Amino acid sequence: MTTMTTPVLQASGVTMRFGGLTAVRSVDFTVNTGEIVGLIGPNGAGKTTFFNCLTGLYVPTEGTVTYKGTVLPPKPHLVTKAGIARTFQNIRLFANMTVLENVLVGRHTRTKEGLWSALLRGPGFRKAEKASEERAMELLDFVGLAAKRDHLARNLPYGEQRKLEIARALASEPGLLLLDEPTAGMNPQETRATEELVFAIRDKGIAVLVIEHDMRFIFNLCDRVAVLVQGEKLVEGTSDVVQADERVVAAYLGEPFEGDPGTAETADVAAAETGAAPQSSTTSTKGEAQ
Ligand SMILES: Nc1ncnc2c1ncn2[C@@H]1O[C@H](COP(=O)(O)OP(=O)(O)OP(=O)(O)O)[C@@H](O)[C@H]1O
Ligand SMILES: [Mg+2]
Repeated sequence: MTTMTTPVLQASGVTMRFGGLTAVRSVDFTVNTGEIVGLIGPNGAGKTTFFNCLTGLYVPTEGTVTYKGTVLPPKPHLVTKAGIARTFQNIRLFANMTVLENVLVGRHTRTKEGLWSALLRGPGFRKAEKASEERAMELLDFVGLAAKRDHLARNLPYGEQRKLEIARALASEPGLLLLDEPTAGMNPQETRATEELVFAIRDKGIAVLVIEHDMRFIFNLCDRVAVLVQGEKLVEGTSDVVQADERVVAAYLGEPFEGDPGTAETADVAAAETGAAPQSSTTSTKGEAQ
């Protein structure tokens, strides 16, 4: 990975305003070939909004996004076609379709026949169906859902629905996969399995950008992590660098970072020694970032 770092995704100066609220502010961001990059930050930091700017769901108020050197078109299906696939924070599957059908729908940008033909199963679709179905089954096997091909999506347990979303995203044969909280609602075993799955995706040559609140997952997985706070990129670096940065801890606690840690404790000890009441409160956290 140290040899030949070619950017897959490049965002420059991306800003997204909603009326008076600036949800994302002048964010520069790069994902290189072969990388797994994490995007973290407290609730409401602008992570999903940033994803939406990358995938054509929102047209950024300012800034540009390029994929492999080409400026992305401002339409989700064209972005998918260009090579970026995503999953959603709130799972979006066709609940009353089978597992296999959900993946087949994900293939529509890569087949000549298109979405309606896939949904209506027209004659053109049936011809292309066999090859598509083989590829879809490969992907289901890859995520561990082959045995459930004929189950309705809505009957899958939550963790498997998330896997199915990943299989469907992979069906568009992306060069970059964006995952928005892929382990939300998963138990520790499922989270571990998802970690392995993301490594396996990267090993197939697909770069990955992942939003997650599970820090263990992020720091195990990512080559690089960027921290978004109130729409701005606060810190970016390797897991070690980000973990050691006190501004990140302060951002998560929802309190401004004020100089040396321990200052408050020192003051309390000094106050206790002189018999005065403690001046600071080191126990109050506001709990904004649940
Ligand atoms: N379509 C919209 N219209 C207006 N405001 C929005 C819209 N989408 C997001 N916001 C606001 O932008 C800010 C960032 O929200 P966003 O969902 O991107 O945060 P997030 O980092 O993904 O948070 P979480 O970790 O909770 O998912 C929030 O204040 C949110 O209310
Ligand atoms: Mg979000």
